[in-house]
Amino acid sequence: MSASRGAGPLAGRTAVVTGASRGIGAAIATRLAADGAQVVLVARGRERIEELASGIRADGGVAHTVPTDMTDRAALERLVGWLRSAGRVDVLVNNAGVLPPAATADSTSWQAWDDTLAVNLAAPWYLSSRCKEQLPRGGVEDNVASTASYYPSRGLVAYNASKAALIALTRVLALEWAGEGIRVVGVAPGKIDTDLVRPILAWSKRRDLTLNPQGRIGTVREVADLVAFLVSDQAGYLTGVTVPIDGGELLTAGGEPGR
Ligand SMILES: NC(=O)c1ccc[n+]([C@@H]2O[C@H](COP(=O)([O-])OP(=O)(O)OC[C@H]3O[C@@H](n4cnc5c(N)ncnc54)[C@H](OP(=O)(O)O)[C@@H]3O)[C@@H](O)[C@H]2O)c1
Repeated sequence: MSASRGAGPLAGRTAVVTGASRGIGAAIATRLAADGAQVVLVARGRERIEELASGIRADGGVAHTVPTDMTDRAALERLVGWLRSAGRVDVLVNNAGVLPPAATADSTSWQAWDDTLAVNLAAPWYLSSRCKEQLPRGGVEDNVASTASYYPSRGLVAYNASKAALIALTRVLALEWAGEGIRVVGVAPGKIDTDLVRPILAWSKRRDLTLNPQGRIGTVREVADLVAFLVSDQAGYLTGVTVPIDGGELLTAGGEPGR
């Protein structure tokens, strides 16, 4: 891969961001590129990642695109092959995620379970473990979990299970890799203004529910800023933790109105 632009805390580093075609992933990729990293944008939506890459290049950054469906094991293997041939991966952000339509545990289909676990959990495990050789001392993985990792919601069994397990994955990898100077961290967003969460936001609004103690929805920029800190050298003594970014949602365990 070519060298990234010279300035910024991530200058000279390569950052891979999955689910970079929109929402939180696009904001993270944009922020890491602004911090000097050359970015590898991964998602199914080829046009959207190419559009984002063009914008990053127009701003003087370096961006590559690798369209990949996280539910397709052969495609994941091709992505790993691409990354291996490209060289080092200093930062791996496992952000791609799906929130399947609400269904109680007994009405959840195998397909919905498999697809959700494939994108939200299996792909982060596979990518991290197969790209480990590409992660140098000082390398960082950041997994995008959720406040749903911490408390149950009716109708979200596959999502809740996948996101809770993603925190376990973060902790295991952090433990196994700490001795090699690789950090593994996570973020757990609450309600952030993206396509994924709009149905829930609309549902809450109809019932006049307050989402969290701050009483507002978070922005993708706020999540991207946190990720930028966590993957930077400033967070060098931080590993194995998942940081909630939720306007205080977890203070009310998700079940109570915010105020
Ligand atoms: N928004 C929130 O309030 C919130 C809260 C907690 C956690 N999160 C987590 O934050 C992450 C990003 O979510 P978001 O809110 O930004 O959602 P979003 O706007 O729906 O974006 C989801 C991203 O994941 C990618 N993706 C989905 N299925 C994929 C697949 N099979 N293969 C490859 N990429 C796939 C999508 O790209 P393509 O469709 O182009 O493939 C898209 O880039 C997710 O892990 C989500 O669970 C979000």
